[in-house]
Amino acid sequence: MYLIESIIVVAIALLALVDQSYSAVVFKLGQCPNVPGQATLDKAQYLGTWYEYKRFPAIFEAGLDCTTATYGDAGDKISVTNSGTLRLNFFGRRIVLNENSIDGFASIPDPSKPAELSVSFGGVDMGGNSPNYFIQDTDYINYSVVFSCAQFPGFNIQFAWILTRAPGVAPSNLATLESNLSAAGVDVSKFRIIDQTDCPV
Ligand SMILES: *[C@@H]1O[C@H](CO)[C@@H](O)[C@H](O)[C@H]1NC(C)=O
Ligand SMILES: *[C@@H]1O[C@H](CO)[C@@H](O)[C@H](O)[C@H]1NC(C)=O
Repeated sequence: MYLIESIIVVAIALLALVDQSYSAVVFKLGQCPNVPGQATLDKAQYLGTWYEYKRFPAIFEAGLDCTTATYGDAGDKISVTNSGTLRLNFFGRRIVLNENSIDGFASIPDPSKPAELSVSFGGVDMGGNSPNYFIQDTDYINYSVVFSCAQFPGFNIQFAWILTRAPGVAPSNLATLESNLSAAGVDVSKFRIIDQTDCPV
């Protein structure tokens, strides 16, 4: 019994490796791509609410849409509130199962790299002294391209978001944003568009 369960677990892991659409995360062999943060960051302009336009599948956001990230001024840190809704389509009606929200904070470990943030939730400093939220490109008023990658021996798990100020509206330069990410070695085919319609306020 135990042996069969183990075989099934290994088979699912292998499937996830081969067919990444099966996987709940973007898993790649080798090193994290080098996606530096942009050279400057105007913190005040970056604050406020961002809507997820597209993201990589992320286990901690599985099934969530209407997802937003709200940043606020918290002295030398930035407060972070991430929200999202779990909804079900039932004969053309949307049923809200759950509204989620999580609070955290962001800091800038190295002031010479102001767009490379360390974001933590639940009072746990997950980033430590190393950044885990790279603002690769933002114009503050339309879009923000954010990348994160966790390195493990021999493989890595990647997270990426294209955030917009207007819910569900593609930035007019989306193709350039994606080709720039792609030039940095990121597989942009993993992006999924997030439903931002009929969201509970
Ligand atoms: C950014 O927003 C401004 C004002 O709404 C608009 O004129 C401009 O075309 C937008 N640019 C992009 C890249 O989306
Ligand atoms: C894309 O990358 C090029 C070359 O690095 C850069 O000049 C350009 O500003 C980037 N495009 C956008 C929309 O940020």
